[in-house]
Amino acid sequence: QASIINEALSSLCSPALVLDVDKVKINAQRMIDRCDKLGVQLRPHMKTHKTLECADIMTAESRRCIVVSTLAEACFYADHGFDDILYAYCLPFDKVERCAALSERLDLFQVLLDHPDALEQLKKRPLRDGRLWHSEGVELTGVYAHCGNSYHCRGLEQIQAVAQETTKLTLQFMEKLKAAGVTCKSSIGSTPSCSHPVRDMAQLSEVHPGNYAFYDAQQSVIGSCSIEDVAVRVLTRVIGHSPHRNQLLIDCGWSGISQEGVGKLPTGCAVIEGHPHLKLVYLTQEHGIVEPTSGLLDYSKYPLGSLLRLIPYHACATTMMHSVYHIYSKGRLVGKWTPTRGW
Ligand SMILES: Cc1ncc(COP(=O)(O)O)c(C=O)c1O
Repeated sequence: QASIINEALSSLCSPALVLDVDKVKINAQRMIDRCDKLGVQLRPHMKTHKTLECADIMTAESRRCIVVSTLAEACFYADHGFDDILYAYCLPFDKVERCAALSERLDLFQVLLDHPDALEQLKKRPLRDGRLWHSEGVELTGVYAHCGNSYHCRGLEQIQAVAQETTKLTLQFMEKLKAAGVTCKSSIGSTPSCSHPVRDMAQLSEVHPGNYAFYDAQQSVIGSCSIEDVAVRVLTRVIGHSPHRNQLLIDCGWSGISQEGVGKLPTGCAVIEGHPHLKLVYLTQEHGIVEPTSGLLDYSKYPLGSLLRLIPYHACATTMMHSVYHIYSKGRLVGKWTPTRGW
């Protein structure tokens, strides 16, 4: 199996980001099915991939009801026919005009406010054609919480305890709003909590996970998925042997995998697929240093030019290091996806 994959990928210059599109589709469909079963609207976050192709997979081609983390993403998706876009970021004052333009051109563009000063900024820029800002004091669409503390969990039980607590607190807050005469939507969710939802989440209006389409080594450590579910790899080549240090040099440094995994995994900065006894111990900008977890390296197994596949610790950070993603399916390279970039 490993040699079949490597043969298919051998035409790529490394480091290269490779996605197993069949795994992406399975991960996305599982989340759609989970939310359908629960009876809660899925509003997938686009931040991990920032591509049209994956957005279509995650929205089942509806091109509606998404979350973005930058205005560059919001504009990119709006330009390609997406609507009902939630910009999940504390309102940046320098970007109010661009938010206004999106609010005036889309059926629904939602912004987040977490400070009264931000509300003042919106009031200074009323929308044209009788439209209203979809945010607090103007037209409150809903309450949004990320559930980021689920990233400290290990295993199903802890994940569900955090999911339950966040759901409970959000629902209690909704009750208080209701008592004050305010009814609106509620949206929570991270990849860990939405990969193992609790029943009470059915009482929420929406959930908004994003990483789940790719997953990564971090999510497998948390317990959101198994390592086999991870759809993303960085292809790298052995470019040097250092027998005096018992090390290999590879052509992927932090500019190919990101610094996110440093010090986080027993196998170093990433998992080296199919080589559990290798550890990625150090990254420079363009180089990675690999050691065995114990004993002496057998260099005959890793000739110069041989391919290794890294499973990144944090997919969202690793994808940001690449301007193109190579798409792999059933033993073949089948295309490329180009993400949007910027803020
Ligand atoms: C505001 C916000 N909402 C939703 C998400 C998606 O969560 P996850 O990455 O766990 O899928 C993130 C992720 O960072 C986020 O920052």
